[in-house]
Amino acid sequence: MTKVITYGTFDLFHEGHYRLLQRAKELGDYLIVGVTTEAYDKARGKLNIVDSLMTRIENVKKTGFADEILIEEAPGQKFNDIKRLHIDIFTVGSDWRGQFDYLSDYCKVVYLERTKNISSTMLREKNSRIQRIGIIGTGRIAERFIPEAKLVSGVSTQGVYNPHLESAKRFADKWEIDAYADVESFFSAVDIVYVASPHETHYGYIKQAMEHGKHVICEKPMALKKKQAEELFQDAKEHGLILFEGIKTAYCPGFNKLLGIACSGTIGSIRNVEACFTKLENAESRELTDQKYGGSFTELGSYVLLPILKVLGEDFEDIQYDTIRGENGLDVFTKISFRYPNAIATATCGLGVKSEGRLLIAGTKGYIVAEAPWWKTTYFEVHYENPLEVEKYTERFLGDGLRYEISDFLSMINGNSNSEFKLTRSESVIMADMMEQFLEMENRNI
Ligand code: CTP
Repeated sequence: MTKVITYGTFDLFHEGHYRLLQRAKELGDYLIVGVTTEAYDKARGKLNIVDSLMTRIENVKKTGFADEILIEEAPGQKFNDIKRLHIDIFTVGSDWRGQFDYLSDYCKVVYLERTKNISSTMLREKNSRIQRIGIIGTGRIAERFIPEAKLVSGVSTQGVYNPHLESAKRFADKWEIDAYADVESFFSAVDIVYVASPHETHYGYIKQAMEHGKHVICEKPMALKKKQAEELFQDAKEHGLILFEGIKTAYCPGFNKLLGIACSGTIGSIRNVEACFTKLENAESRELTDQKYGGSFTELGSYVLLPILKVLGEDFEDIQYDTIRGENGLDVFTKISFRYPNAIATATCGLGVKSEGRLLIAGTKGYIVAEAPWWKTTYFEVHYENPLEVEKYTERFLGDGLRYEISDFLSMINGNSNSEFKLTRSESVIMADMMEQFLEMENRNI
């Protein structure tokens, strides 16, 4: 019996897929089809897969060509499958020509002619037209956003706005996009807006963008006042627009895996969460000199509040703020203690103080620990009473990680999925409320 194997994503199943499977089956007697998992596709940079794994498997099954279907979840798996399953022929479409020649030491490698003029990418783009992104702001985070957006299919960065034309031009030249200093022409040239301007300008820009009918993704902290956050979400609802706070950790695959385990009961009932994020920032930086909006909490607070709200929820009974100030009076180290009916939590952030940045979640059966940079979770451990019993989890986090939030944002705009649960509106509102309380306590008149 000749055993044949092929692999693919098979998203939005099309004629090209059908013809490939048909010919693959004809190469032998028994056809095995490997279908990729969402996590594997994400890791490979395919971020906008529309169909779920189950749908994609069903579609392959329906063709009747596959004698067996398996799931492909990691690089290097092909090699193992071929040996383990005693495969005679490995086949894929000609778009991969040459790339699997290394397998020819173990089986025959056949590249089948690709069907012309059809691909999942084409169908995805037809289903959802390319969204033109406009960036407001020309700072460091805006710089990081552009290469990340390039990795998400279905979006293209069209232009940048900065009220100072020179700054807009400098940025635009570097990234080969258009520069705008006039807000009206900026809004008319783009479909969606990424707000990456100084914190205090977020509210005004989001409001304006939504008045122009644009979906908005805004850097954290989205708002510095509870009322403003509530109002913005209300506006978004009324206009039928997506408003999305870009706390990248919330969309990062590893962090979501960790939350899944924390909330599954594996470590029992959660009694304590400790989250710490510190950074040694240049003393001249905006973060450490902006007397009104700078400091450790406005800068890093969103990251450390996130796991607490996600794991313990929104019904805390009390919060206490403790802070150490630098020479110019700005907070450089801040600790927020939460009291819940059955748990306590601390969120710690520092901008001029270095501490061990870790996330610790303790429960009645065990604890989860993720070391810095846990906000880009790639690794965490689950520990139990028996110190020898340790479960280790890894997950990929590619590049600067903004691609995950951009991809979720886009899927929501296109109606393909709803990632709202990853950072809910009410969690964003609570964070804005806490920013407000903190700035009030610091006597900053915002
Ligand atoms: N394939 C093909 N002809 C096409 C499209 C795909 O023969 N027009 C083959 C691929 O070469 C691969 C298999 O079908 O062997 C699964 O491909 P997959 O990557 O899932 O499909 P694409 O349409 O190429 O997807 P994408 O556009 O996302 O890359």
